[in-house]
Amino acid sequence: MKSLIGKAPGLGVVLVGERKDSRSFVRVKKQACEEVGITSVVVELPEDCTEGEVLEVVSALNHKESIHGILVQLPLPCHLSEQKILNAVNVEKDVDGFHPVNIGNLAMTGREPLFIPCASRGCIEVLHRYGVEITGKKVVVIGRSNITGLPTSLLLQKHHATVSVVHAFTKNPEEITREADILVSDVGVPNMVRGHWLKPGVVVIDMGSTLVTDSKGSHVTGDVCYEEAILKASLITPVPGGVGPVTISMLLYNTVEAAKRAYQ
Ligand code: GUN
Repeated sequence: MKSLIGKAPGLGVVLVGERKDSRSFVRVKKQACEEVGITSVVVELPEDCTEGEVLEVVSALNHKESIHGILVQLPLPCHLSEQKILNAVNVEKDVDGFHPVNIGNLAMTGREPLFIPCASRGCIEVLHRYGVEITGKKVVVIGRSNITGLPTSLLLQKHHATVSVVHAFTKNPEEITREADILVSDVGVPNMVRGHWLKPGVVVIDMGSTLVTDSKGSHVTGDVCYEEAILKASLITPVPGGVGPVTISMLLYNTVEAAKRAYQ
């Protein structure tokens, strides 16, 4: 057995293009790594890079012994195949949990993924830490993105919740959300979920995070109208400062797990 003592866990981040939100997310992840002693390497590529160039970077990180976790910041520019690039990440270094093998094992009963996507794991962590029972509860997830909504609905089912998913084509979403014991939202539409969408006593996990500029200046806003929801909910996560920082912690957790496994 090899030892992790004296070796820092290493995270490799691939950042393509100039998106402000992606750059800001990566900056926060890098800073969090520094705070806990994880070595992070950010490889930046220009917006107009080729798919081959991204695949070369991923392959180099796959082969680098000091890198235990790899994260390709999403979304990628449209000319790049997200599917091809995420498939190229070594499944044992897939700390985002987006490789189809990890997502597949998350979806299947009796199988365990090597990594669970960080936002989804963060959602469950918040519910556990606040003593919220999940088994048998009616959970409504708003949004079905590959990054958050889809894996979160799968993970909640693994925790024995009865899960409904509301999306852009759902008719009268508020009729469904009003049934929820636990409501999770990640669609990036500020204040979309209003007070009358909620059952009294509901637990609200707001995973939306959109930069809004209005008369109060620029600020990050969630999907849920906090002022209205706080009057109905028994628990609610604020934005900013709710599940966001927990999601970052889950990335650090996954990276340390990856490093531990590499030295087992
Ligand atoms: N873009 C927004 N959230 C995420 C995330 O959790 N991981 C990656 N790779 N990209 C993102």
